[in-house]
Amino acid sequence: MADVIHELYESRIYPAMSHPLSDPAVSTVSARLSGLDVPHPRNARVLEIGCCSGHNLLPLAQRWPESFFTGIDLSARSIEKAQERAITSGIRNVAFFSGDLRDFTPLDGPFDFIIAHGFLSWVPDDVKIFLFTFCRQQLSASGIATISFNLECGWKSRQTVITKVRAIQDAGAGDVMSALGILKSISRAGDPEAEIIDDMIARGTSILVFDDFGPINDPWSLKRFVQASSHAGLRWLGESDPSQNIPSELSDETIVELRSRTNNLIDFQQSIDEVLGRMFRSCVLCRDDAMVAGRVSSDILLDFSYRAGKEPLESQVLQIHQAVLSHAPAAVALGDSIGALLKQDLASAKQRVFDGIARGWLRPRIEALSYHSSPPEYPKLNDFRLLCAREALPLVDAWHYPCAFPLGHYAVLAAMDGSRSVVELASLASHRSPELAFEPWLRHLAWRGMFA
Ligand SMILES: C[S@@+](CC[C@H](N)C(=O)[O-])C[C@H]1O[C@@H](n2cnc3c(N)ncnc32)[C@H](O)[C@@H]1O
Repeated sequence: MADVIHELYESRIYPAMSHPLSDPAVSTVSARLSGLDVPHPRNARVLEIGCCSGHNLLPLAQRWPESFFTGIDLSARSIEKAQERAITSGIRNVAFFSGDLRDFTPLDGPFDFIIAHGFLSWVPDDVKIFLFTFCRQQLSASGIATISFNLECGWKSRQTVITKVRAIQDAGAGDVMSALGILKSISRAGDPEAEIIDDMIARGTSILVFDDFGPINDPWSLKRFVQASSHAGLRWLGESDPSQNIPSELSDETIVELRSRTNNLIDFQQSIDEVLGRMFRSCVLCRDDAMVAGRVSSDILLDFSYRAGKEPLESQVLQIHQAVLSHAPAAVALGDSIGALLKQDLASAKQRVFDGIARGWLRPRIEALSYHSSPPEYPKLNDFRLLCAREALPLVDAWHYPCAFPLGHYAVLAAMDGSRSVVELASLASHRSPELAFEPWLRHLAWRGMFA
């Protein structure tokens, strides 16, 4: 099976993407809230497994020049691309290796952060088990692994569609798209399956061959994930985004009801997955011998920086949310944003901040992030973003979110090397992309920290 996977990733280009859930600026907060004193990512060793062409790792390496980053992937072609892009962008604190994880002996470990995003569900069982054992061996004493995987409860209905499509293909329909077309023609409007079929068709072959119709697509339950990882000597700490432990879609009544059914944390978490039909988790693990504090002081909340998330449903958090929002798009230290409130009643302010984190109204990071949120006179993308613009790849913003553009926009982005004024770029945009509302678009880029 490893050969089939190898062949797929050598013969086709996997879409380049960054993954905000794997960002150590966020997962560090999650681990520290769980009682693990994980090192600051600004001075750490980071490994990404299945790093592909480095689109997730390279912006992180650029963000933290004092840290060292290692990437490994089965596909030599992807690794060549990653190496080439690191050199072209002048990113030197990174090393990429091609080969099977099972044959990899890292020279730069142990690692404070191991990232395996989009990996576990797409590899055979022996590689899955090896991944956990490898993480146990290669994590530093208070390091964390962030591992994402697909959840079987959310994938159930998609898998029924996949099985039908494969059966139609076996009956001679040819490629996935043709088989999906046939299935669509016999599905009834309003049928939930029809929605899935439409979604698959919209995603297109270039994604489907890796994703839904990859050689392996093996969703697990959380329970199975925790059992397999703990068998290898790892401890589950929760979701890498702390607001995803109890997603805000859940009403307070549902939470109370689910809690009343069990005292077991994993069963409780799994019941959340089932109620929500959740498709995906991004979990944080540490070594089972790591020093994890049983109780975490609420003072830890003062160590993080915050940006505003969704508008709070609780009026108590609204005041804090508004104070943080007034600094947008920056993420600022708590004292800087709600200093006055902290002075009034520190204990209750901290409780509200904690509630805000848990429900996604406040988005914590391990460090502040601030930049000019209006476009500079001579817009300049950094070397990696410029390279991405030239190759029409998604640009990764300051928050590690990827942003893909229509082809015509890339020509304008590729000209943002600091040598052209906003007026010159506007003129270029009017030729290359006449439909583009240039000024709001430029403001949007600045707001996302593309010129940071
Ligand atoms: C679904 S892609 C995910 C890529 C990237 N992490 C992302 O999420 O965008 C899976 C990646 O894992 C790599 N891979 C699969 N099996 C592997 C193995 N045994 N050892 C190392 N890499 C492997 C593939 O080459 C591919 O680049």
